[in-house]
Amino acid sequence: MHEFTPDVESLAHEILEYSLLRLKENPPLDGPKSVEELYALVGNTITSQGLGGSKALSLFKDVLAPACISTDHPRYLAFIPSAPTEAANLFDLVVGASALYGGSWLEGAGAVFAENQALRWISDLAGMPESAGGVFVQGGTIGNLSALVTARNYARTFFTDVTRWVIACSGEAHSSVQSAADVMDVEIIKIATNGQGIMTGDALKVGVEEYESTHAGHKVFAVVATAGTTNLGIIDDLNGVADYATSRGIWFHVDGAYGLAALCSPTVRPKFAGVERADSMIVDPHKWLFAPFDACALIYRNPHLAKRAHLQHAEYLDTLNDDGEWNPSDYAIQLTRRARGLPLWFSLATHGTDAYAEAMDKTMNVAKTAADLIKAHPRLELLVEPNLSIVAFTRPGWEAADYQTWSDKLLADQIGFVTPSAHHGSPILRFAIVNPWTQVSDIEAILATL
Ligand SMILES: Cc1ncc(COP(=O)(O)O)c(C=O)c1O
Repeated sequence: MHEFTPDVESLAHEILEYSLLRLKENPPLDGPKSVEELYALVGNTITSQGLGGSKALSLFKDVLAPACISTDHPRYLAFIPSAPTEAANLFDLVVGASALYGGSWLEGAGAVFAENQALRWISDLAGMPESAGGVFVQGGTIGNLSALVTARNYARTFFTDVTRWVIACSGEAHSSVQSAADVMDVEIIKIATNGQGIMTGDALKVGVEEYESTHAGHKVFAVVATAGTTNLGIIDDLNGVADYATSRGIWFHVDGAYGLAALCSPTVRPKFAGVERADSMIVDPHKWLFAPFDACALIYRNPHLAKRAHLQHAEYLDTLNDDGEWNPSDYAIQLTRRARGLPLWFSLATHGTDAYAEAMDKTMNVAKTAADLIKAHPRLELLVEPNLSIVAFTRPGWEAADYQTWSDKLLADQIGFVTPSAHHGSPILRFAIVNPWTQVSDIEAILATL
């Protein structure tokens, strides 16, 4: 198994050829099959003697891959799609082939150096200080959790007599914040948003003070502001939230898993004013920064606080911990880690940052046009002008079941992938446009079915 035989060489060619074709040719949208259907087609693939690489690859190519929706398809507009650059995808192959260990400087200095340059770019775009730093983790969920664990660890050093720790965020915050609170066994309070769905500093003050005055011993140690909500792309009042958080010694975390990618476009950067005051922030390059799954850039204003919370101690690790080098594992919930920031780094190094701003603006222009098309559509209503690249709308008269039926048929007909969501309890549709390959004609084709 570990020898590079002529058979392996020929399998390597098959695999590379398949990978290149997948990159070169626009894949169909495809879609899921049931377990029963897949079993009927594939059977049990794990056998005592093995199937051989060619056979296993054929099963993947012919059956398993087509049972996965192509998240980079220009008409995949559900959830938050992915749209890696060719260079980023290609370099993912290199990362996979290289047995890189991205956890410590000792083992992966070159990879960590490159990842840190990509992190520095993001950190500088946000206006964070030179001393800021962090790590690429698996996704926004782990990024938010790791930041909040750091925040609580820090709060414990100066808030005393606390019987229950509390996180504040708006009702529009991503579900991963609730998940972090559950994992950490802390409370969460949802701050009322204004008419545009924005959490303001004033509302945060009211929410926190009302809560703390009626819950003796409970202490809000962190606030999560969202910079681009998943559902509608709303950006909280980052400066207002920072003002109040700073005045009360509350950790200010910005969840920009989706939205903060737009920092790379000078045209929208001012929308994120205040992000530079964050104690921690996240942005997922696998969402709107054109990198493959999975990568979340987690950046701390003061990385020492993260290290204090996350550093693992053991006799077998002391050799790493004693050398004072930058070990990415120390800044989040993880130890072994793939150098998952390298595809982004390679693509940035290849294309330069201007290309990122251009691609970003392209997606936002398509989102603007989509909003105009919806406003002009006889049967649709735009919910809100797109803030970034999410376009939310309704089809008045339709119930939740109608939206689902339409969505299922859209995929079954291989026209597009758009799933229903809800806003204030009512069903909506939303396009999340992060793919520079998504053209206005793709939007038109989908709208024509409504
Ligand atoms: C605002 C926001 N935060 C966090 C997450 C979670 O990120 P991940 O799915 O990478 O864990 C998402 C995912 O869509 C998101 O939109």
